[in-house]
Amino acid sequence: MPSNPVHGPIGVFDSGFGGLTVLRELVRSLPDYDYLYLGDNARAPYGTRSFETVYRFTLECVQYLFSQGCPLVILACNTASAKALRTIQQHDLPAMPDPSRRVLGVIRPSAEAVGAMTVTGKVGVLATPGTVKSGSYLLEIAKLYPDIEVFQEACPMWVPLIENGEYATPGAEYFVARHVHALMAKCPAIDTVILGCTHYPVMAELIRRYLPPGVRLLEQGRMVADSLTHYLRRHPEMDTRLSRNGSCRFLTTDSTDLFNKPATLFFGRAVEGHLVTVS
Ligand code: DGL
Repeated sequence: MPSNPVHGPIGVFDSGFGGLTVLRELVRSLPDYDYLYLGDNARAPYGTRSFETVYRFTLECVQYLFSQGCPLVILACNTASAKALRTIQQHDLPAMPDPSRRVLGVIRPSAEAVGAMTVTGKVGVLATPGTVKSGSYLLEIAKLYPDIEVFQEACPMWVPLIENGEYATPGAEYFVARHVHALMAKCPAIDTVILGCTHYPVMAELIRRYLPPGVRLLEQGRMVADSLTHYLRRHPEMDTRLSRNGSCRFLTTDSTDLFNKPATLFFGRAVEGHLVTVS
């Protein structure tokens, strides 16, 4: 660690609005810390983009949050966690001027939580095409619980519907029904379904309506908040670098006129964004 390490907020990143569902739970569980949220709205959605593009965009956003003084950044985006986290942790971070800063994702905490939930050992994952194609959930869950069988369903229309404010329309209902039925058709014994995209909690009620009774639907915010709480307990050297004034600031790469209203819906409290350029 450098002799005078950076002292600052926890950075929370997503391609757009979805990470605000995670930030909401982080603030609920760890209210004393400062948070700096960055939504790359100008380039969202990431879910259908190539590995290289998601990696490049994510790295630029992480570097931006580091430049704003964040010692720790959470990728509150499954797509970015699946396609960029490992390379950033193993390749980019060690080469940075302060390699003691940290980047964490949302897939590992979700994989950890699922073991205690499933009884049948059959787990479903609803996610973007990018996350599904990466196979990250299959890998992470297999590492921790080799006996659990994982079934995935890519839902390419869900993020665009949500980002465009169409998540409570008959169109959304059609696509929710289609993908939930397709997932359950892969294995009717699935008893636990992970919402593997941080945008999806705004459609959680609708998704629940199409799941068979008794199937549990896991939203990630809580799991990520619990995991961060344990992480900070295990890593006091990081915990002491995080500032604590209970503040939240919001940055977006697109117009704040387009950001503030949907962001308020996702976060559940009034949000006032600031426009930034990250690349
Ligand atoms: N919220 C992001 C996730 O958790 C996906 C959004 C996108 O496709 O950009 O995967």
